[in-house]
Amino acid sequence: MVHVAILGFGTVGSGVAEVLTTNGRLIDQRVNNLVRLKYILDVRDFPDSPYQDLFVKDFSVIENDPEVDIVVETIGGARIALDFTTRALKAGKSVVTSNKELVATHGYELLQLAKANGCSYLFEASVGGGIPILRPLTSCLAANELSQVTGILNGTTNYILTRMIRAGLTFEEALREAQANGYAEKDPTADVDGHDACRKICILAALAFGEHVYPDQVPTEGIRRVTLGDVAYADSCGYKIKLLGRCLRMPENKVCAFVAPHLVPGDDPLAGVEDVFNAIAVTGNAIGDVMFYGRGAGKLPTASAVVADVIDIAKDLKKDRRNGWGPGSPDMMVSPDVLPSRWYVRANMTVEQAREACGEIQPLARGGAPEEETAFLTGEMTAPALQEKLAGVDVSSCFRVL
Ligand code: NDP
Ligand code: HSE
Repeated sequence: MVHVAILGFGTVGSGVAEVLTTNGRLIDQRVNNLVRLKYILDVRDFPDSPYQDLFVKDFSVIENDPEVDIVVETIGGARIALDFTTRALKAGKSVVTSNKELVATHGYELLQLAKANGCSYLFEASVGGGIPILRPLTSCLAANELSQVTGILNGTTNYILTRMIRAGLTFEEALREAQANGYAEKDPTADVDGHDACRKICILAALAFGEHVYPDQVPTEGIRRVTLGDVAYADSCGYKIKLLGRCLRMPENKVCAFVAPHLVPGDDPLAGVEDVFNAIAVTGNAIGDVMFYGRGAGKLPTASAVVADVIDIAKDLKKDRRNGWGPGSPDMMVSPDVLPSRWYVRANMTVEQAREACGEIQPLARGGAPEEETAFLTGEMTAPALQEKLAGVDVSSCFRVL
């Protein structure tokens, strides 16, 4: 029998218990063993829960029980979750998590620790919610040298943008809905300001390029500066505004990674990704382009990915899964400032002034725009070149075009 303990009985943890119970027979068949939930740890009480007998408040009960093989960490954050994960791995118990903050900040050392203790640290649910992406990236695409990964990586912000555009909700109303659906982080500024997408692109970059990329090495901008006016201008020229996490292999084994709102051409598959859905586009030198799509957040989709990791480990508790990466280094990172692209600009200036500053431009129009406002698409140039051209101009929005 394989015994599982869940740490944190919130949105994801309760989903994991539900999937383990509802699909129990099927899971046992697939593992060819009995997989049983033995403990649930949470700071809160759940008097009406059907799992009443399983709740404990003291982690050492789990840590010291030799029957526990797999610990599911769904508490979140990088404090108590780091302590519990470290202790579980040191006790030789494999850990499965959906906690991207912990993987992005401490993944390298935790993977080393798992290896040293003959157990596994798996985190399929940490990127893209229910979308199978990390295992396909390292297994199904293993024959490729990967050159870039581009993704809509945050369900909450994609949901907010979709609801504001399609249902005319205010930002606050759309955020409240995302929270009620269980999509948002405990502190939703992590979603809105791009930090959640940043953690996910760090994990994708580490798996794609083999070295740890830390969140503070990744320039990150969220969706706060995106207005409905920007959305209307983008629409007028056949683009959608999406928050993208991107990482690219650069010459000399360097890596460029960043998170920012982008104008995505309407015929790009990423443009049609709406609501809580995420999508991750990967380019490899043998496969070409491939895209992974599905629900990026939510109780059962995320639990689906967590339980898949539990099943993988339960099939062979001692297998060396070789899912590590190198420690990374600051001089491995390249600034996105070197990447030329077209730009969308909204600024207080005339079309003539925009032309004078930026050369050939494509002016954009929308109903109800203030007279002093001009929006336009530039030709290809780097961010510093654009900044120089627009020095002294009152720029309200400036987003890269994919
Ligand atoms: P929740 O806040 O819903 O659940 C976390 C649970 O852990 C809460 O019940 C919380 O209690 C409890 N908890 C907090 N501190 C402790 C502690 N010291 N000991 C035991 N339990 C504790 O979070 P989610 O389920 O939404 O997210 C969990 C993780 O999964 C996060 O890392 C998140 O980023 C990630 N994730 C979430 C997804 C989603 O759709 N929600 C999707 C993919 C990943 P209390 O509420 O009282 O603090
Ligand atoms: N808050 C995250 C999101 C949860 O909205 O994408 C899934 O990682």
